[in-house]
Amino acid sequence: MTVHAIIGGTGLTQLDGLHIETELSLQTPYGSPSAAILRGEYAGRTVLFLARHGQPHRIAPHQVNYRANLWALKQAGAQAIVAVNAVGGIAQGMPAGHFCVPRQIIDYTYGRAQTFFEDELQQVTHIDFTEPYDAGLRAMLIAALRSERVGFSDYGVYGCTQGPRLETAAEIQRMERDGCDVVGMTGMPEAALARELALPYACLALVVNPAAGKSSAPITMEGIERVLEQGMGSIRSVLARVLAIN
Ligand code: HPA
Repeated sequence: MTVHAIIGGTGLTQLDGLHIETELSLQTPYGSPSAAILRGEYAGRTVLFLARHGQPHRIAPHQVNYRANLWALKQAGAQAIVAVNAVGGIAQGMPAGHFCVPRQIIDYTYGRAQTFFEDELQQVTHIDFTEPYDAGLRAMLIAALRSERVGFSDYGVYGCTQGPRLETAAEIQRMERDGCDVVGMTGMPEAALARELALPYACLALVVNPAAGKSSAPITMEGIERVLEQGMGSIRSVLARVLAIN
């Protein structure tokens, strides 16, 4: 049976219902991951859990050590990764509270360590990233969301910005012209690093606010936290359903 890892984003620093068996404090050639990796049982399956922003939440999106996180998960035995990400909604049909299983990515980040392929290489490797997410894992997430009876889109382009500030209205308009449906700050380089390690990877995104300029109301942390709290139950049961499939 596949050992799945879950990378929890904002609002998911711990996985309620996870029966923790071991806390793995791992070191990697790239430094320390965001937190100890929790290995345990969830929905009857062995699972690994890592809080992307640390536990408690203290690491900003541009300061997450994505390489250490992915390396440590692989070291801990992960065979597939489901990433949970809070996002802003850009496209119509992506209101707050809506789920999205993105199919594509546009990377607007800069200055992040984004590859394992550097320093003293025997040869440079260019991974195929045409389809950044794993089709099989995406299908499992989509099936789980369907059973969960929540509003979701089984498509979408995830635009990843640098943060930690939110975007300007003009930046969001540009992203919309580019074809982005949702915007977040943590999707990259995580997805690319997973591919470099040959780990199937997919994203379960929860829209927590209309992106900048998409609503007359300002974007507040309180508003975001409210939506996160409401969506957390569905996230937990979608994850349980995904694990049960495989
Ligand atoms: N922009 C970028 N990242 C986000 C947003 C947003 O509006 N909401 C949640 N993560």
